[in-house]
Order: sequence, then C-alpha cells, then structure tokens
Amino acid sequence: MTPHDGTLMLEVGSESPAGQAPDASEDVSRLLDENESLGRELLRCYEQMSLLFEITENIAHLGDAATIQAALIRRYGSMLNVGALLLEDGTRCQVIDGYESLGRPLPANGGVIRAALHGEIQRVRESQRALTCRLDAPGSSVELRGAHAMLGSLQQCNAPQIVLIALRHHSDAPFDTGERLAAESVLGYGGHILTNALMLRQVQQMAMETVRALANAIDAKDNYTRGHSERVGWLAKFLGRALGLPPAELQHVEWAGLLHDVGKIGVPEWILNKPGPLTSEETAEMQKHPRLSYEVLKPIASLESILPGVLYHHENHDGSGYPERIRGEDIPLIARILHVVDIFDALTSTRAYRTQYSIDRAMEILREGAGRVTDPRITDVFIRSFRQYMRDSQADYLERFAHIALGPAPAASD
Ligand SMILES: [Fe+2]
Ligand SMILES: [Fe+2]
Repeated sequence: MTPHDGTLMLEVGSESPAGQAPDASEDVSRLLDENESLGRELLRCYEQMSLLFEITENIAHLGDAATIQAALIRRYGSMLNVGALLLEDGTRCQVIDGYESLGRPLPANGGVIRAALHGEIQRVRESQRALTCRLDAPGSSVELRGAHAMLGSLQQCNAPQIVLIALRHHSDAPFDTGERLAAESVLGYGGHILTNALMLRQVQQMAMETVRALANAIDAKDNYTRGHSERVGWLAKFLGRALGLPPAELQHVEWAGLLHDVGKIGVPEWILNKPGPLTSEETAEMQKHPRLSYEVLKPIASLESILPGVLYHHENHDGSGYPERIRGEDIPLIARILHVVDIFDALTSTRAYRTQYSIDRAMEILREGAGRVTDPRITDVFIRSFRQYMRDSQADYLERFAHIALGPAPAASD
C-alpha cells in the first residue's frame, strides 16, 4: 500500500459511513441553525409588518391630528419596547407620559438628553432617516449614561418637524437594523396620515368659514336677525348633542342651522324689515324662503345631508306649516330640531314687529306649542337641557346669549 494509497484509504475511510456522519451532521446542524435564525428573522419581520399595519390602520381612523399624533407616539414606544421616549420639536424636548423611566425616572424636561444628542437630532432632522447611538450625557444619572438611543423623524406638512428619541437602558439589547427600518416606516406612514388629517381639518375649517360668511351675509340683509343663523347653528348642534346624535350628524345639524335661512337672500328687504304685520301676499313671499334655501344649496354635493333640514324647518308637527304641510315624524329629524331652536331664537330676539320675549316667556310659548307647532319630545329635551346649560355654564351663556341676558326682557305683547 503506497502512501498515496494510504491517503486514498484514509480519504475513502473518511467517506465511509462510519466517518461521514460527523461532517454531515455538522452541516445539517449548521443548516438547521441558519434555518432557525432565518425563521426568527422572518417572524420578526412579520411581527414588525403587522405592527406597522396595525399602528397605521388604527391611527388612520382616529380623526383629529392631535389624537392621531398622541396614539402614534404611544404605539411607537410600545413597538420598540423602550423605557423612555422623548419628543423634540425644535424648541423643547418633552418626555412622553408612560415612557419616562430607565430604571429611575428621567429629569422632567429632557433638557440633558437634548443637549447630549444635539448633533444627532440635527442629523435626523436634515436626513429624515432614523439613527442609533449610545447616549453620552455627562453629569446625568448612572441609568442614563451609555443608554441605547434611537432617533427618528416624524414629519408632517405645515407643522414643526418632530424628532422622537427612544431610549433603552444600557444593560438592555441595543436597537438593531430591523428596528431602525421599522421605526422609519412607522414614522413615515404616520407622518403621511398626520398630514392628511391636518389638511382635512384645514379644508373643513375653510368650508366652515365660508358657510359662516354666507350666513352672516344673510343675517346682514335683515336688520333684526343679526347673529340669528350663527345662534341657530350653535343651538341646533347643542340640541343634537342633548338628543344623543353621533358627531358626524352634529356637524350636519350645525351647518343646517347656519344655512337654514339662506333663501331669504331672495326675499325683498322691505318685507324682511317691515315693522307691522305682513299682508297675505307678503307672507306668501316670505314663506318661499325654505324652498329658495333648498334650491340655493342643492347644487353643492357636500351639503346634501342638510337639505331636508333647510327645506322643512318651518313644517309644524300638526301639518299646518310650510312649504309641504307634512306632519309628525314625516318631518325629518334635522328639520324638527331646527324648528325648535329657530323659534326659540326668534322669540328671544327683537324683531321688526315686536321686542324680544324673556327667556321664561319664550320657554312657555315653546311648551304651549309642543305637539302642535313643534315635536313635543324634542321641545322637552331642549327646554330641560337649555335650562341646565344656563345653570352649569353661566359664563358661556352670558357671553353667547348676551342679548337675552342683558337685553330688554319684559314680557312683550304678541
Ligand atoms: Fe326660516
Ligand atoms: Fe330662521
């Protein structure tokens, strides 16, 4: 047997079933390890993706930007499993409630952390990319020194850019690349959702201001109804809330109140401001205003839901109103609400043909007309809740209804 043969023998021997087992089992075990670690990585990616989806999905339905931002930041903190979370907005660094401890509570204002991470904050603000580092904060507590930090940017249009600083105790695991990428995604999506919410609010605000301007233009036409549309809008929303309407409907009710008399734009001013009683022709002219309001607003698609309120706000419960003489629950709820508060505001305001009634007399007249003129249940809810509002929110009442509280209050003759 040559040495070569021997080598061969050895090589052959190493490939024999007896010698093959250790190498193969190492390979298998290495593959299994790799597989397991890939599996763990995959699971972690899946968890991060589902968290990302859950966070963005949940916050997208919250509505206003402040609530969305608060929820996003809380979920961000729990996703990263951090001890402390701080919000830096360019002017101050604020510790987030519920994330204020790294073994011991952080200093309340976060100033030390902001100063220690000044350069990193600037870098994140400029690049809008998340970064990780160790916190070097001389003079701070032992818990803070060497803490793991991750900084991420939350950017939203028309609002200061926020840098979120997440901290973990130095004895905990540092933030890894997967967490940094997940943080970037959550804050990126969150920023888009916040921007959309802010823009939606701006559009709504603009629409509301336009509606108010229109309502003021109508009221200005009639010397005696200044502020009437604004008050009816507020009172309608107030009554809607007392009746338990959902928030979206409250908005419709308020808009319907603001715009219910928009059709008066088509009624001659001398009729609107006539000091004495109206002739039958003048009354007929005046009674055209609900339908005129309806016709003016009908082309505006976003105001479709308020049209029934506008058209039927002078329909009486017993069918004696106008323009269609419908009765009872055939009158849409929004119109029944408007009818009550419209009458209340008319009674408590001075008109061309009479001075204002006192609040007690106005409530009395409303009660007398309940079931005949207005819906009895809605009238009852209004009287009770308005009396309670006068008691519980006296300052607001005095400011909003100064003309009732301070105006000529003696009971006037009809
Ligand atoms: Fe009206
Ligand atoms: Fe009115």
